[in-house]
Amino acid sequence: MPDLSGKIAIVTGCASGIGAATVRRFLSDGAQVLGTDINADAGQALCDELGATFLPQDVSDRARWSEVIVAAVTKFGRLDILVNNAGNVSGASIGDGSDEELFAAWDQVIAVNLTGTMMGCRAAVAAMKNNPGATGSIINIASTTAITPLPTDVGYSASKAGVRALTKSVATWCAKQGLAIRCNAVIPGATETGILNAAEEVTPGLKAAVAATSPMNRLAYPAETAAAIAFLASDECPFMTGADMLVDGGALSIHPGF
Ligand SMILES: NC(=O)c1ccc[n+]([C@@H]2O[C@H](COP(=O)([O-])OP(=O)(O)OC[C@H]3O[C@@H](n4cnc5c(N)ncnc54)[C@H](O)[C@@H]3O)[C@@H](O)[C@H]2O)c1
Repeated sequence: MPDLSGKIAIVTGCASGIGAATVRRFLSDGAQVLGTDINADAGQALCDELGATFLPQDVSDRARWSEVIVAAVTKFGRLDILVNNAGNVSGASIGDGSDEELFAAWDQVIAVNLTGTMMGCRAAVAAMKNNPGATGSIINIASTTAITPLPTDVGYSASKAGVRALTKSVATWCAKQGLAIRCNAVIPGATETGILNAAEEVTPGLKAAVAATSPMNRLAYPAETAAAIAFLASDECPFMTGADMLVDGGALSIHPGF
């Protein structure tokens, strides 16, 4: 079991799904956690219930990032872990709807999933540089749609592919600077959460179809993704940076003929 005793973590999108499971897991592994979410009521309730600190945050709001980091460092003294988990779907394909609809959907999903993750990385690196030994671990939540994109959501898929590349750029920049700040991506497959239910509304039958692509023939539970996040957050893997950690039940590993 990864040991996160004494570590200070921020988890974005903490109110539900993978974010809520990560807060739960980090607390049980000994970390102190600041959870953030755009859904202030649900985020506050979850953090109150579990014993974490909560702040409302829209991750696409640039000014809010520095306020969140300052709040964490002021309360806990430093920042060791950032999980860039908050995410949205757009539900827009390349060919349907008006230009205005596609651009609005594209802009919001890129702003939240990709630009929000980049701003989180920048703010976290700046704070983690001040840790003794300049240590830290950033985990960005990508998606298997970065590798096998959704025809029905061009912006979501592109944003998650961007998160993979962003992760590797942050990881290698930190390493070249001599910083002990690692940055890795977790790549969940279809997971039983709110965002998948939103995708199911756009594409009825999607959940059953993607469950069937895994040789395990099921969706992931959020706690299974949280376990991978906790490993990357811990000191168990000091030589892992820039990595993609698949949590997809083997879905991307099986020949399509089987
Ligand atoms: N569920 C899946 O099948 C799946 C698969 C691959 C990747 N992911 C990724 O996992 C991450 C977590 O999603 P989830 O599956 O737990 O879904 P979820 O909908 O349960 O959780 C997403 C959370 O992000 C919050 N959020 C949305 N926009 C925000 C914003 N602008 N600022 C701050 N918070 C915001 C929501 O309020 C919600 O609490 C997302 O990045 C998602 O893309 C999910």
